[in-house]
Amino acid sequence: MTVPFIDLTRINQPYAADVKSALDALIESGEFVLGESVRRFEENFAKRMRAAHAIGVANGPDGVYLALLALGLQPGEEVICPVFGYPAAAVAIPRIGATPIFAEVDENFLIDPESVRALVSERTRAILAVHTFGRACNMTALEQISSEFGLHLIEDATHACGAEIGGTPVGSIGIAGIYSFYPSRNLGAIGDGGMIVTNNEELAARLRLYRDLGRDADGRTVDLGVSSRLEDFQAAVLDLKLASLDEDNADRIANADFYREQLNGETFAMPAPVDDLGHVYNMFVIRHAQRDQLRNFLKERLVETRVHYPRPLHLEPCFQYLGYQEGQFPTAERLCKEVLSLPINPGLSRREIDEVVHAMSLFAQSFPAAAK
Ligand SMILES: Cc1ncc(COP(=O)(O)O)c(C=O)c1O
Repeated sequence: MTVPFIDLTRINQPYAADVKSALDALIESGEFVLGESVRRFEENFAKRMRAAHAIGVANGPDGVYLALLALGLQPGEEVICPVFGYPAAAVAIPRIGATPIFAEVDENFLIDPESVRALVSERTRAILAVHTFGRACNMTALEQISSEFGLHLIEDATHACGAEIGGTPVGSIGIAGIYSFYPSRNLGAIGDGGMIVTNNEELAARLRLYRDLGRDADGRTVDLGVSSRLEDFQAAVLDLKLASLDEDNADRIANADFYREQLNGETFAMPAPVDDLGHVYNMFVIRHAQRDQLRNFLKERLVETRVHYPRPLHLEPCFQYLGYQEGQFPTAERLCKEVLSLPINPGLSRREIDEVVHAMSLFAQSFPAAAK
């Protein structure tokens, strides 16, 4: 039996009928861009994230770029961001002429506040906290540093839609929170989409302007923006799926707990449990010293896995111009050699997860050596 890493048909099938009626209604309305569906979803999403404002955009990286633009960052200024992760958020920083300054991460793959503190310079304007894999960053420590140095604290909550810290949804803690609704996300569209949430009235007004080419409500182009608008069709789909976000996250957490119960924690380093929605497992990432052997072993037994992420960002070709060298981020460099993502999505059957656990246990018998 093949265990898929993710099955988007299975995840979206339950919404098919409602999506088709939403599409019919949309065609009827003739409103396809920045229409009623976008307004309604922005309202519902802001409510769910307990933020004052939500601004729909085309994708995650545009969200980061627009937040930096609307916060007034200038060429030559610096943004501190984690060295471990998908390049999307960091790539948005040079788009505005600013410089990404990479900070080391901890064993939970999250930006290390002490590394951030050591990197603050007179050119630093913002910290970009990425809640990688769905686990909330240490926002208390990052808030402390950002207020001490007068820096903007921006969150990329793409992996952590629905996660909370002390009852506060991540994304609504910093000055701006960015979400991508790429189909494999906890709240995934049937295509591309993104959102920025903020409690700052002025910032919200500027973001609405900049996502629509710089046009104000009277249609005058008053500033240099971009066309990065969430489409009404995707907004209608996301609004339908928002209602099951918490239930889906509960499924992901239950799957994670099951893996922790069943798998040998000596052999496989697994994400530690976090209470109160502190982790919503967009990905369940384990570590093992023989990661490549493990991956092949599982593949032979028809268990699909992924490697998030094979290279730390300072070694990504697109960032070579920054002049970082191998060895500068020992933790991130080691993590990239050991990580393996297991199937975790809602809708996975217990039989499928049992299959993964069984294959992993067989591997543990052959390769008992634990991740360091
Ligand atoms: C943390 C993070 N932010 C943003 C993105 C990218 O968003 P998009 O898929 O909308 O380009 C990703 C994609 O994997 C991501 O992992």
